[in-house]
Amino acid sequence: MYKARIIATGGYLPERILTNHDLEKMMDTSDEWIQKRTGIKERHIAADNQVTSDLACEASKQALKRAGITADKLDMIIVGTCTPDMTLPAVALHLQRKLGAGKAGCAAVDMNAACSGFLYSMATANAYIKSGMAKNILVVGVETLSRIVNWDDRSTAVIFGDGAGAAILTQDSGKRGIIASELHADGDYAYLMIAPGNGTFHAPTGNYTKIHMEGHDTFKIAVRHLENVSRSVLEKAGVKPEEIDVVVPHQANVRIIGSVAKRLDIPMEKCILTIDHHGNTAGASIPLALNEAVENGRITDGDMILFNAFGASITWGSMLVRW
Ligand code: UT7
Repeated sequence: MYKARIIATGGYLPERILTNHDLEKMMDTSDEWIQKRTGIKERHIAADNQVTSDLACEASKQALKRAGITADKLDMIIVGTCTPDMTLPAVALHLQRKLGAGKAGCAAVDMNAACSGFLYSMATANAYIKSGMAKNILVVGVETLSRIVNWDDRSTAVIFGDGAGAAILTQDSGKRGIIASELHADGDYAYLMIAPGNGTFHAPTGNYTKIHMEGHDTFKIAVRHLENVSRSVLEKAGVKPEEIDVVVPHQANVRIIGSVAKRLDIPMEKCILTIDHHGNTAGASIPLALNEAVENGRITDGDMILFNAFGASITWGSMLVRW
């Protein structure tokens, strides 16, 4: 019985840092409010000449190098993003070209599940690997949210950041790898968070087409779903909350992470927190947090890792991995 195992990770954050104090000069907000309500101190913002696939490429190159494989050996590239370079082609194809693997011709596709995009992409990669349809898959979570943020709306502008995280998944028949996962969506909640630009719905541009979020309602629903889906994945795998060594949650709000950990009876010290210096990077937040935790030695061989994510509008999921 095969499963997918993460053999290497990579990450990339754009050079420019936007602090809460910088935001104080741009809008009616305060460092105190942002830190207290979200846990965020600063976020990274892509340069004007960087697009989403550039960020993805940097993170992917690092992951490939650490895995010791070249891009032409990949069977598939899956990119979780809601901020693509353009409508066509998908980020995964731009990425394939930038990695110099176009001629090798592996499958390449984007998955738009907003902040749950990385978990959706990982679960899809696992299904391909389990079925024997692929052996080596590059999974990326990447966003350039700064391009679709409404900088006139303080309730959303202070939250989001840009970045990319990548993982190389390979076929494994041992104990390590993805043990269980569960994905959900409920389109009835589309109004909670919407960015209606760049599609067939709205031709006009301007702030109307940028991100709008009903933050308060999203918060409450997120906590409930994250708790339930995490419990469900643990039950499916026969793993008790106390057996979890590390939680790598989506970094939307430190208060959401804390509430979910408390409900699951998992100590906050086991949760990887990057929100203070990354902000909310949507689909990039989990792979960036994972990469940082691996680099810092917070994750070691044999650890049981719980992932969970909640995104627009609305998607959610959880995954259990034996590292
Ligand atoms: O990534 C996946 C999906 N997203 C999420 O999961 C995000 C979930 N939501 C949240 O994290 C929180 O709801 C926010 C951080 C977005 C907002 O925090 P909140 O505690 O829910 O604030 P609120 O929207 O209820 O607003 C409270 C007050 C309001 O003022 P009044 O009406 O009480 O006078 C807002 O106008 O805070 C005010 N406010 C701000 N004040 C200073 C809203 N944004 C700001 C701001 N600076 N940036």
